[in-house]
Amino acid sequence: MSVSLSRLRRVSCVVEDIELAVRYLESLFRAQRLENVPTQIHPGSGRHLAHIGLGDLVIELVVPQSADTGWGKRLDQYGPHVASLAYGIEEMDQLLADLSDDNLEFTHTESGAIWCRSRALIGFDLILEPGEQGPLAELPGAWGEVSPMLHVEITHHDIAQAGRWLKRIFGSQRVEQEFSEFLVGITAGRMDIQHFSLGDAVLQYIEPRHDAGPWWELLQKAGPSVHNITWLVNDMPAVATASQAAGTRDLRYFEFDYAPLFGEENRIGDKTVGRIIDCAHILGFHLELSERQAKNINTYMYKEV
Ligand SMILES: [Fe+2]
Repeated sequence: MSVSLSRLRRVSCVVEDIELAVRYLESLFRAQRLENVPTQIHPGSGRHLAHIGLGDLVIELVVPQSADTGWGKRLDQYGPHVASLAYGIEEMDQLLADLSDDNLEFTHTESGAIWCRSRALIGFDLILEPGEQGPLAELPGAWGEVSPMLHVEITHHDIAQAGRWLKRIFGSQRVEQEFSEFLVGITAGRMDIQHFSLGDAVLQYIEPRHDAGPWWELLQKAGPSVHNITWLVNDMPAVATASQAAGTRDLRYFEFDYAPLFGEENRIGDKTVGRIIDCAHILGFHLELSERQAKNINTYMYKEV
């Protein structure tokens, strides 16, 4: 029996420089620094941990205090990366029973949460905290000049297997199927793409072919991993100016036509279809951004954006 999750509480990223990452998100989006966010990471001096609100997402930035800590070893192994997604959960005993066959490694934290080493299975670890409710559980989250988060995008060698595991443990469903199938068509066979729900969030799983570029390269280098996180923005030229000023480049720039999916009659003006900014060295993930293409986009989305 699957267990139910709270809304996505935090995405935790191991980075090299907290202030650089914070300044970067502030300059691109007016993202908001958050204080007193509950966390499983001991804040210590305060200089190695920060929380930023972006859309409806709380981004937790962690800098290892030394190279021989667990965080330090992770940074050394993978470079800056997304380490974990955190959710609340009420049925902790049920979860542990469901996971007992999976041979997964766990750490129990002092506050009763478990850190589930699920990266090889789904591309990230899970922090599961007791209680579905709690601080920030119901925060609307409208931080900075972006939409709610569209999805966390993950490169993986077997996306069907990842989806089956998420369904069995958390009741995840395949969502946004028309949207993802449209995207598969655009990639002309270089990727399979499936979207799965996890709590209120969407995970976009990418199974890249050898000629899929950065998704394939990341998968070879680091195994299943978060590649980017995706939002809608209102003013792409302003974001482009800010990202150029920060010295980052585009990893990809997209110009395909969404009208076959959304309908010509729903098109909104002349919009930037999408770009992926090469900034994982700063944030632990790349940024994928689009301007809103169509009036009816929410017809195709799991969560209202
Ligand atoms: Fe994406």
